[in-house]
Amino acid sequence: MSYEITPTVKGEHVDFKNPNLAFYEAVGGEEGMKKLMYSFYDKIYESDIANFFPQEEDEFEAIKIKNTKFFIQICGGPKVYEGEAGGMELNEFMVRLHDDFSIYEKSRIEWLGTMGEALDELEGVDAALIDDFWNYLENFSKLTVNTFADGSKYYANL
Ligand code: HEM
Repeated sequence: MSYEITPTVKGEHVDFKNPNLAFYEAVGGEEGMKKLMYSFYDKIYESDIANFFPQEEDEFEAIKIKNTKFFIQICGGPKVYEGEAGGMELNEFMVRLHDDFSIYEKSRIEWLGTMGEALDELEGVDAALIDDFWNYLENFSKLTVNTFADGSKYYANL
């Protein structure tokens, strides 16, 4: 698969569409999503953005669990992340959660590249569904970029 990445433009409105429920079903529902996201996070810890994440094992595990729940729900699966977002719309909550970290375009590219490696491990999932999932990630991740090469900050709104 070739995973295209288009640049984040500071202040530009970002259009995105939540992933397709068929992707969640094709990976194997809750268990399949868990496998995908645990593999992703294991790779994150070997990546150039490992320093963003807690190094302590229990905290690492907690993030894997929450991350898996988020992706289950954002694909249209069971609402297992609902309680974490405190009533906020899920994507909006996710953008605000990332405000606490100084995320550069370079960090986003590393994050996406790592996700691409995890997606490459999927077997028997229709390429069009992977593309659709990728499109969500590629676009949505622009909203997590909040720190720019000139050192300025910009916190995107949906
Ligand atoms: C499509 C884009 C992204 C999505 C959907 C996403 C999703 C998530 C989710 C679901 C969590 C766990 C939330 C929770 O604690 O309840 C999380 C945490 C986090 N993400 Fe992302 N993320 C994205 C992009 C990025 C990027 C580009 C970075 C760059 C470094 C990043 C860094 C982090 C960090 C540092 C944490 C929290 C770790 C902590 O709590 O200590 N994320 N993200």
